[in-house]
Amino acid sequence: MMTSAYDDSGQGPAIVLLHGFPFNRSMWREQIDCLSARGYRVVAPDLRGFGEMSDNFRFVADADREPDRQAEAYRTITTMADMARDVFALMDELKIDQAVICGLSMGGYVAFEFAHLFPTRVKALVLAGTRAPADNEQERQARFQQVEQMLANGMSGIAEASPPKLLAPRTLAEKPEVVARLYEMILQSDPQGASAAQRGMAARRDYSDDLASMNVPTLVMVGRDDPIRPVADAEFMHDRIRDSRLEIIEDAAHMTNMEQPEVFNAALLNFLHDLV
Ligand code: MLT
Repeated sequence: MMTSAYDDSGQGPAIVLLHGFPFNRSMWREQIDCLSARGYRVVAPDLRGFGEMSDNFRFVADADREPDRQAEAYRTITTMADMARDVFALMDELKIDQAVICGLSMGGYVAFEFAHLFPTRVKALVLAGTRAPADNEQERQARFQQVEQMLANGMSGIAEASPPKLLAPRTLAEKPEVVARLYEMILQSDPQGASAAQRGMAARRDYSDDLASMNVPTLVMVGRDDPIRPVADAEFMHDRIRDSRLEIIEDAAHMTNMEQPEVFNAALLNFLHDLV
């Protein structure tokens, strides 16, 4: 396990927030503030290779140091299961027996792995802007190309190109602070950590077959304007997870929780409130 960087705020039933790619735990600021003020314990880790957790990768990049074999492996690929195991270890460390696991996009893949590996630790699931099927070959190749780009040129190209892909037209037009925050978050990501996660996403398995056997209450959320993980991906999960509800968020694309925090939080609070 890696030393974790995380926020842990509030008291009450635990909810764990898993960020997307290539972001960090700061994307959950509005959810941490809202839920911790309403009687929940909110834990938001930086996933392996991101935020403060990217220090592990920078260490490996230092040529004067003796390369550590295990850290070298982390640099090469971070699987969704690696991240799920880190979350499990963090929950143990924080003495959290069961939690609502909420993941956005890549965080959703980690949530799928977590539910598969540690089913008794999941009270409920929130799957936002994510999808169950694995990549096709073309998508996998696009990820490998992005790895080349990140390792050669850093994060600036992705940061420049991302806002129109990840944010709805209304967010772009009316919420410059969200655009700036997203841009900064991507720019701050470590190319090596992000590359390892990108390889991990390319290697992830198809979670579709898990859906029918998922037996915890699940909230599926999606932005109406998300071009990356469109509404059809959310409907696919909602149709197959028995105890699920679907929330489509208007005027939001991929970053629903940042673009429409009030709507996202209200849906989350309703869902949490209804859990017995
Ligand atoms: C994310 O936002 O986490 C990514 O879009 C996930 C992915 O590339 O599949």
